[in-house]
Amino acid sequence: MAASKSKRGSKTTELGIGLVGTKFMGRAHANAWRQAPCFFDLKRRPRLQCVAGRDRVAARAFAERWEVATTAPTWEALVRDPKVHLVDVLTPNHLHAPIAIAALQAGKHVACEKPLAGSLGHARAMRDAARASKARTFVWFNYRRCPAIGLVRQLVTEGRLGTIRHARASYLQDWGGAATPMLWRFDAALAGSGAHGDLNAHLIDLVRFTTGEEIAEVCGAMEATWVKSRRSGARKAESTVDDATLFLARLSGGATASFEATRLATGNKNANRLELNGTKGSVRFDFERMNELEWWDDTLPARLRGWSRIMCTDAEHPWAGAYWPAAHLIGYEHGFTSMAADIVRALTGQKPVLPLPDFNDAFRTQCVLHAALVSAREKRWVRPDAYE
Ligand SMILES: NC(=O)c1ccc[n+]([C@@H]2O[C@H](COP(=O)([O-])OP(=O)(O)OC[C@H]3O[C@@H](n4cnc5c(N)ncnc54)[C@H](O)[C@@H]3O)[C@@H](O)[C@H]2O)c1
Repeated sequence: MAASKSKRGSKTTELGIGLVGTKFMGRAHANAWRQAPCFFDLKRRPRLQCVAGRDRVAARAFAERWEVATTAPTWEALVRDPKVHLVDVLTPNHLHAPIAIAALQAGKHVACEKPLAGSLGHARAMRDAARASKARTFVWFNYRRCPAIGLVRQLVTEGRLGTIRHARASYLQDWGGAATPMLWRFDAALAGSGAHGDLNAHLIDLVRFTTGEEIAEVCGAMEATWVKSRRSGARKAESTVDDATLFLARLSGGATASFEATRLATGNKNANRLELNGTKGSVRFDFERMNELEWWDDTLPARLRGWSRIMCTDAEHPWAGAYWPAAHLIGYEHGFTSMAADIVRALTGQKPVLPLPDFNDAFRTQCVLHAALVSAREKRWVRPDAYE
C-alpha cells in the first residue's frame, strides 16, 4: 500500500520482530509479518529482525528462506537484541512463560502462541509480568481473525441473535492414532495437556470472543487417552496427555455450552466448529469452510425463514476488504496476517478491527482450561474465576 511503501527503509518506522521458533508457527508468523504491510496501511513496518530455534542450522536456513536479518544462538540472546522490539513466542508451551517474562522484563512487546501456557501457574506468572510492564502483550488466537467469526461477534453485539441460549463448540482433528510418533505435544511436561490445551483453548476463546460472555461454571468434564505409547526412534515413549477432552459449561448470561476437543476424530482434519442459538436467530461456522457463515434469522416471517449461507468476503466483512474482490477466497494464513496487522495497529495508537486477546484475556481462557481439568478429575462443578 502507498502509505507503507513510502515509509519503507526508514528505521524509525520499523518494528523489529524476533521469532523464537522456526517450524509450523514459525512459518505461519514469518509469512504474516511479511504480508501484513503489503495488504494493510500500517504506521510501522514489521521487519523480521532475528530468529532463534533449538537447532541453529535450521534457524540459519529459516532466516535465509524468510529473509530474516539475523539469527541468535539462543532465545536469551534474541531477547537481548536491541533491534528486536517485539518477541514472538512460537515454541512448545513449557517455554512460553520463561521467554515471555524475560522479554517483558527487557521492555519488549510480546506476542505469544496459544495456549498462554501449559499450566495455570505459568499463565498466572505471565499475566502478572504483563501487568508489571509498560509493554503490550498479545496471544495468537488466530481464529478470531476469520471474517466469518468477526461477523458472528458483530451479529451478537448488534443484538441480531437475541439472548444466547446455547453455545456448541467442537474442534475435531484426526492425528492418525498410534501411527504418529512421539512429539513434544504428547509430553505433559512440555505441552501441559493434549487436545485440551491445544484445541479447547481455541474453542473457549471463540465462545468468549463471539458472545462477549465469560464462562461462569464448568461441569461434566471427561478426559480420554487411548494411545498411551508412541514410537520415538527405535524406542517407545509414553504419551502423558489426553487425546480428547469434553466438558459442559454455563455462560455468564445463563446459556448452556458444550466443548469437545479431540485428535482422534477419524476423518475430521481441522473441523473447528461453533454454533450459537439465540432467541432471535442462530449461526453455524466450520473452519473447513472458513469463508462461509450460516445464519438463521428468526425475526423473518415464518414463510421466509431458512438457513442462509453468507460468503464473508465482501469489503464490509472484517479484514476481508484488505485482500481480494468478493468471493475470491482467503485461507488459513490470512487469519495470522490480519492479526499481525491488528497488532501493529494496536502498537501505533490505532484501534484493531476487533479486540485482540492480551495476557490478561488469555489468562481467563487458561482458568477455564484448568477448571475443566479439575471438573474431570474431581467430578464436580468448578468456577473458573476461583483461579483468577
Ligand atoms: N494458533 C494456532 O492455530 C497454532 C497452531 C499450531 C501450534 N500452535 C502453538 O504454537 C506453538 C508452537 O507450535 P508448533 O506447532 O509451531 O511447534 P513445532 O514443533 O512445529 O515448532 C516448535 C519450535 O520451537 C523451537 N524450540 C524448541 N525449544 C526451543 C528452545 N529451547 N529455544 C528456542 N527454540 C526452541 C523449535 O526449534 C521449533 O522451531 C505451541 O505453543 C502451539 O500450541 C498454535
